[in-house]
Amino acid sequence: MKNTLESITKIGIVPVITIEDTSKAIFLAKALVAGGIPCAEITFRTAQAAEAIREITSAVPEIIVGAGTVISIELAEQAVSAGAQFIVSPGFNPAVVDWCIEHGISVIPGVNNPTGVELGISKGLSLLKFFPAEVSGGIAMLDALAGPFPSISFMPTGGICPENLCDYIERKNVFAVGGSWMVKKDLIAREDWDSITKISQEAVLAIQTVRQKK
Ligand code: 3PG
Repeated sequence: MKNTLESITKIGIVPVITIEDTSKAIFLAKALVAGGIPCAEITFRTAQAAEAIREITSAVPEIIVGAGTVISIELAEQAVSAGAQFIVSPGFNPAVVDWCIEHGISVIPGVNNPTGVELGISKGLSLLKFFPAEVSGGIAMLDALAGPFPSISFMPTGGICPENLCDYIERKNVFAVGGSWMVKKDLIAREDWDSITKISQEAVLAIQTVRQKK
């Protein structure tokens, strides 16, 4: 469990993916790995999510695959039995968090205010998703949360893009960012794997550059 979160921290970026067509899942995973992002969050926003996780897990073992939009224990069970190594949710569902902790599964629940952070602390978590980041105050909110919660680190997600990526990564209370800009639906639909790899490489380079100065 700890190793998964450490690996996500090291990679620094979690692509948020919605799969409509499972035949594209393996190509997509390989494009991300080629771009230096061996990590993928497959959202349970389509019926294909579990199958996509299963396919990627077996065909591209070097990638860390997690499940996103996990808003019930039932979805968490489906995700983990398909091979998901971590669970992400948009909000803080105590039942899902408890289930993940009991089953030794890494969980990154979403919060966007001090109450959510305290809920996370009450469950022993120190890594939380900050969602939806941009419309919840963005950088200013993260800086405000750093004062009372110095031991908590966030994965801002929602509105992160190449233009604001570095500002987020610079924060000392950010362990990774999440986002969909390198895996946009249209790129996947037209199977533009080269663009996905290129956008991923650019993001990785930007993160590495900021972290060297951090
Ligand atoms: C989402 O809700 O789809 C994720 O948080 C990603 O957000 P983004 O599309 O703004 O990157």
